Amino acid sequence: MSSTWSPSSWRSFEAKHQPSWPDSAELDRALKTLADQPPLVFAGEARDLTRQLANVANGEAFLLQAGDCAESFESSADSIRDRLRVVLQMAVVLTYSGGIPLVKVGRIAGQFAKPRSSPTETQGDTELPSFLGQIVNDIGFSEAERRPDPQRLLGAYNRAASTLNLLRAFTSGGYADLRQVSSWNREFVASSPAGERYAQMADEIDRALTFMNACGINGDTVPALHEVDFYTSHEALLLNYEEALTRQDSLTGDWYDCSAHMLWIGERTRQLDGAHVEFLRGVQNPLGCKVGPTATTDEVLGLCEALNPEKLPGRLTLIVRQGADKVTEGLPPLLAAVRDAGHPVVWACDPMHGNTYTAEGGHKTRHFDDVLKEISGFFAAHAQEGTWPGGVHVELTGDAVTECLGGSDGLVDGDLAEAYETMCDPRLNGRQSVDLAFRVAELLRERA
Ligand code: PEP
Ligand code: CO
Repeated sequence: MSSTWSPSSWRSFEAKHQPSWPDSAELDRALKTLADQPPLVFAGEARDLTRQLANVANGEAFLLQAGDCAESFESSADSIRDRLRVVLQMAVVLTYSGGIPLVKVGRIAGQFAKPRSSPTETQGDTELPSFLGQIVNDIGFSEAERRPDPQRLLGAYNRAASTLNLLRAFTSGGYADLRQVSSWNREFVASSPAGERYAQMADEIDRALTFMNACGINGDTVPALHEVDFYTSHEALLLNYEEALTRQDSLTGDWYDCSAHMLWIGERTRQLDGAHVEFLRGVQNPLGCKVGPTATTDEVLGLCEALNPEKLPGRLTLIVRQGADKVTEGLPPLLAAVRDAGHPVVWACDPMHGNTYTAEGGHKTRHFDDVLKEISGFFAAHAQEGTWPGGVHVELTGDAVTECLGGSDGLVDGDLAEAYETMCDPRLNGRQSVDLAFRVAELLRERA
């Protein structure tokens, strides 16, 4: 690794999972236009998130990072609102039932690029480039739709900007007011067992708010009751897109990737000598890095050294996704090694990506029980090592989809086809998400 970093120093390293853009002049023009656009987030906001994540690293708060696997350019405003709503519902459950401050980060407003296991997809006799997320190409199986199109980089920027604008309006404009807790429980979620449990909790919160209001404490006196801190994140996969949105902060002179508050490195691109580690080590945003079942203690320590050599709490979140059967044995040695090396990381559990399989009807799915089992194993490993289970990282949607099995509705294989809408991985629906939040809150309470 070179010691001099610049926003383009990653270009001398091997960058895996980059699209083969057919026309490099067109790509350069799009990148130049992108570099002239205003930043989507500000350095000060990224620093605020680092501070909040430092509380998680210190065991005083919990991280909920959640949203789509692959966002769509066509998401309606209602669908974006509903995704935010489910994250807010989960956060209230975890705060109220789990009794701990929550740091809320969406996989949203920029989660457009996907690494794929194979660069091409074959249907019948036709082989085409794989779908790499709408920031690169489209999901339809035709040559035109699958051609990587640099204009899509600008489409992604514009889509991220309008999504972020909507999120900012919702989170500061009254929608996220704690007095709305009951109204977030809309029809489709409310009619489930988790929804009923949520309604009871919302009644208790309403009563507490009425009491506090009578004592003179309300949204006017305490802004935290009226609005919420909600941050954005995505996998920093397409390095030329991320580079074009990287700016030097005028206050500190530091570099920030202004495409999102937090960026993470995926499981397929976390090579210590690779371009993704090189790029992200130089931006001062809080970072995540996925840690899959094959990651060794040396690799994980190497990532801590490369991405957070100054050992700043909140700078680095390790997002573990080993799978429900591997976590109990696989995680403790990593926790011990990182602890003993004195690295103050946030440990988050991604219980989705190690538990994906193809159901009999051909749908890619995950079972709610495996998701829960991995989270339980994650908590058990932390209890064993005396470290803090800092958070969960999940793929969800507020829509009434049938993509993951199980949950209190007991979805089975035969239900998957009913509303299978994801462009990439299977997501928890709103009911399953709120159900999961109650289960995680129980684990947090047991831990206290
Ligand atoms: C993802 O988070 O959507 C993803 C691709 O995960 P991973 O890098 O852990 O496989
Ligand atoms: Co995914």
